[in-house]
Amino acid sequence: MKQWNPDSWRALPIVQQPDYNDLKKLAEIELELKSAPPLVFAEETRSLHQQLADVCQGKAFILQGGDCAESFSQFNASSIRDTFKVLMQMSVVLTYGGKCPIVKIARMAGQYAKPRSSGIETIDGISLPSYRGDIINRMDFTQEARVPDPSRMLKAYYHSASTLNLLRAFAQGGLADLHQVSRWNMSFVEANPLKEKYQQLAERIQDALEFMDVCGMNGANAAYLTETSLYTSHEALLLGYEEALTRRDHLSGNWYDCSAHFVWIGERTRQLDHAHIEFFRGINNPVGVKVGPGMKTDELLRIIDALNPDNIAGRLTFITRMGADVLPEKLPALVKAVQSEGRNIVWISDPMHGNTEKTSNGYKTRNFNQIMREISQFFSVHKACGTYPGGVHLEMTGQHVTECTGGAYGLSEQDLEQRYHTQCDPRLNADQVLEMGFLVAELLKNARTN
Ligand code: PEP
Ligand code: CO
Repeated sequence: MKQWNPDSWRALPIVQQPDYNDLKKLAEIELELKSAPPLVFAEETRSLHQQLADVCQGKAFILQGGDCAESFSQFNASSIRDTFKVLMQMSVVLTYGGKCPIVKIARMAGQYAKPRSSGIETIDGISLPSYRGDIINRMDFTQEARVPDPSRMLKAYYHSASTLNLLRAFAQGGLADLHQVSRWNMSFVEANPLKEKYQQLAERIQDALEFMDVCGMNGANAAYLTETSLYTSHEALLLGYEEALTRRDHLSGNWYDCSAHFVWIGERTRQLDHAHIEFFRGINNPVGVKVGPGMKTDELLRIIDALNPDNIAGRLTFITRMGADVLPEKLPALVKAVQSEGRNIVWISDPMHGNTEKTSNGYKTRNFNQIMREISQFFSVHKACGTYPGGVHLEMTGQHVTECTGGAYGLSEQDLEQRYHTQCDPRLNADQVLEMGFLVAELLKNARTN
């Protein structure tokens, strides 16, 4: 491999980064982060890598989800718990309905930096630098709030650490207990139009658990009934922060970005000769790259050459985000090229970012049916190509927000103003996630049995 260092990206062009005024303070903060404990361990990252290799071979399916942007102001135990619960809930529906192990990756504990389509935001004739995520500046529309502040990196690190702490406790300490999951699911769906369907599933799971209990398999001797593995992920956009958390693993001698188990490069920063590809090629985490409708076949293959030259299964995931109308036209050529070159790639669908629209009353939203349509087309393309649809990537929350239209409750554009709380893009709410769980489980079952 060509010489690589955690800071070799600094010599290359880079976009979507803040212009810090106080470079001395920036250097101090980065130094402080360099000596801070890692948020995740290399060994955990390797176990995720192994599970992604299983996905690559069609043996498991990925559920990746969480906020578009985490925020310091909505940082509290109940929002972390609710998103954890809804991830678990969808995962149980997918496991049972899709008859498939689910790899759970939270888009949490570090999702604080946002790429923006414009560096400037204008409201009522006033133009200010755009909000770039809580790790960089503040969302309020004032000059002062929009100044990038390096000390926010430290705050993001500590917020990530406590989010991760709680997620680990939930995953190991009872909240992931399958007996519990079916129980809290019930109260959760009390008023839901899908209650009947859900109740049946919960009863079937309950029966299966009782049967296993009679056979002597229970929480005391089968940890998988009471514990789960939940991994973390975010877009590794702010490279100064990611570099500062990159550590050499003593066991393997390899470098890992210890800010999360899985990191990805966004659609706006995946230029082949730019800094993000350079940084990613040297870290040994499993990594992702967003693939939008503009991706060319040749470009895609060169990204694989750069990020997975040894063709290791599970190392590289393509997260396609094309839009429901565009995907059937653009995705097949990419999938076929990867397949005919024999490259090991995990494909997952982000059905959110290509389906964003603006309502007449000014809200950025996404429609449930459009989102589902992209997922189902993603499955169809892989079926036609003989490749495996490896997962879904959702912007979602456990809160009962009103940000995406549609779904069983029939959320309309007029309803959006009720609880529109997102810091950035519109998220599916808990009910919409659950409903999507059933629909995706059906697609998954078909994909795996046909
Ligand atoms: C995102 O995942 O929030 C995002 C900005 O996506 P993309 O890079 O695909 O636009
Ligand atoms: Co987003």
